[in-house]
Amino acid sequence: MKIAMANDHAAVAMKNEIKKMLEEEGYEIINFGTDTNDSVDYPDFGSACARAVANKEADFGIVICGTGIGISIAANKIPGIRCGLCKDVTDAKLTREHNDANMLSMGARTTGMETAKDIVHAFLATPFSNGVNHVRRIAKLADLDGSAE
Ligand code: RB5
Repeated sequence: MKIAMANDHAAVAMKNEIKKMLEEEGYEIINFGTDTNDSVDYPDFGSACARAVANKEADFGIVICGTGIGISIAANKIPGIRCGLCKDVTDAKLTREHNDANMLSMGARTTGMETAKDIVHAFLATPFSNGVNHVRRIAKLADLDGSAE
C-alpha cells in the first residue's frame, strides 16, 4: 500500500517518525513534505500530497503541521479529498467508518508521538462502514466539490 505524506516545518520530526514506522511495516511512502526546519507554507505541501491521493498515485494521505488544522484545510480544497483532523483513536476510526476519509491530518504541536502512531494505525486498519446513510452523505460531498463520478 502506498501512503503519501506531507508536513510543514512544525512537523518534520513527527513525519520522520511516522514514515519510519510505516516503512518498517511494509508501506511505501511518497514524501511530499519538507525535510528541514526552515519556515514553509503548509498549503504548498498539503495540496501536493492531496493531489497525489486524488489522482490515485497513493492509497491514503497523511498530513501533519503544527495543529493539523491548516494543512487539513489545504488538503480538503482538492476535489475528491476527505481529510479528517484526528486527535485520538476514536476520531481516526470514525473518520474512516463514517466519512471514508482518504487523508488523515494530525498536529505535531498538539498530539504526542505515541498517540499519533496509534491514530495512524487505527486510521489504516479501519474500513469504511459502507452504511447507506454514510454513502449518501459522501456522495453529497462529492457533489459539493465536483468530484462525483
Ligand atoms: C506554522 O507555524 C503553523 O501555523 C502551522 O504548522 C499550522 O499549525 C497551521 O495550521
